[in-house]
Amino acid sequence: MTTTISSRRLAKWAVSLCVTGAALSAGAASAQNVQYAPGKAFFDAKCAVCHQAGGKGQDGLAPPLTDLPGRYAANAEGRTQLGLTVLNGMFGTIAIKDKSYNFKMPSFRVESDEDLANVLNYLVFDVNAKHAGAKPFTAAEVKALRATQMDGAQVRAHRDVALKSIGL
Ligand code: HEC
Repeated sequence: MTTTISSRRLAKWAVSLCVTGAALSAGAASAQNVQYAPGKAFFDAKCAVCHQAGGKGQDGLAPPLTDLPGRYAANAEGRTQLGLTVLNGMFGTIAIKDKSYNFKMPSFRVESDEDLANVLNYLVFDVNAKHAGAKPFTAAEVKALRATQMDGAQVRAHRDVALKSIGL
């Protein structure tokens, strides 16, 4: 009798596992295998025009976002930099892998804390292969950074501080 009950339980458990598995894979497929689908949608709508799909960048216009955001995100100063960049924009020459960029990144301060946290998480966790155990951004973290209002040139200057703190 005990055996019957436990094998029934086992069967139920197996069925619920299958259902969960199917739901998970359906979800992943509709999100095109990204962890942060809302962040990807936001990026595709508002950022890809300059940074291109998947953040691969565009020579002479906008830098690639496929390496540094993941490294920034594992470091306090780097996280501040990512938040300040989307909240205030950035202006001034930067160089990444022997290429330089000197166009104006606009401010996205009008967007919600949640949208900005999502788009940063998409960059860090879906676009960057390396993120050294970084924690996901929360809306509260973005909200706290709003208090620091800078112009684009100040964000550019702060970028040097952030790069130094990640050893670059
Ligand atoms: C109008 C074009 C444009 C749009 C739209 C744009 N960016 Fe940028 N972004 C730039 C440029 C140009 C830079 C480099 C600025 C500089 O040279 O000072 C930059 C820099 C950055 C950086 C800093 C990279 C680094 O190495 O420090 C991040 C992060 C970033 N953008 C994320 C975003 C996100 C997220 C969005 C959408 C919410 C976005 N950008 C939308 C043009 C753009």
